[in-house]
Amino acid sequence: MAVSIRELRQGAPILDEDALLIFQKQWRTYQRLLDLDYLSHRDALSRLHAILIAEGAHPFSFLDLACGDVFGMVETLSDTHVARYRGVDLSTPALTLAAARLEGAPFTVDLIHGDIVEAIEQSDETFDIVWCGLCLHHLASADKRRMLAAIRRRTRKTCLIYEPARHDDEDRPAFMARFLRDHSARWNGLTESEWQDISRHIIECDFPERDADWRAMGIAGGFAGAEKLFTSATDFASLYRFDV
Ligand SMILES: C[S@@+](CC[C@H](N)C(=O)[O-])C[C@H]1O[C@@H](n2cnc3c(N)ncnc32)[C@H](O)[C@@H]1O
Repeated sequence: MAVSIRELRQGAPILDEDALLIFQKQWRTYQRLLDLDYLSHRDALSRLHAILIAEGAHPFSFLDLACGDVFGMVETLSDTHVARYRGVDLSTPALTLAAARLEGAPFTVDLIHGDIVEAIEQSDETFDIVWCGLCLHHLASADKRRMLAAIRRRTRKTCLIYEPARHDDEDRPAFMARFLRDHSARWNGLTESEWQDISRHIIECDFPERDADWRAMGIAGGFAGAEKLFTSATDFASLYRFDV
């Protein structure tokens, strides 16, 4: 059966409109990063898969915040006991692709077009596992804190976030300088214009927290445990696990 996409709310305000532009206008450029695995998605998702296999012995529900086009997610959920999947995203082209990828999945699928902040704060529903890949860093620090507290209220077991992280002694300009220095040559599979688009987006729209602060925000939000599981090959993003 075809997967439908439902609207969270017509005319809802968007918290990070600038950050969203690249995903509405330049989704193909982002897909190039995924295809080239420049953000180490394969490794991050394989760690998520291992956790779901090792710890998800019973049917579980899974909330994917900012699910994008669900790149790699069908494989990540395969052979697990997932019973219900919900994805939320603001990008219509991404959700259209997500719906096609999830068609025929052997679990209940629910795709929502809307703002993740509003989606999580509006609803009382809880999920066993909450996953958020490469989105929270667009929010201001206070909004990230508020979001992680709201996510905690919706999480029954574990939340995992995959986010750009500054070293503990790095401010934002130093992180961006390191990003430009270390990635311009390594991401050489991109065309010059793809590199310009992506690097401009990161420099203008990304607000990575310090490693210690990502973990502290999870604990301040009410999680009992916070742990870093993995850092991407180019030391750009880290995978954090928060347990209730
Ligand atoms: C870098 S992509 C990550 C997609 C996917 N999670 C991944 O790891 O590949 C960021 C995603 O966040 C979505 N997004 C950004 N801000 C959002 C918001 N406030 N609410 C919902 N989705 C948002 C974008 O549309 C995009 O799909």
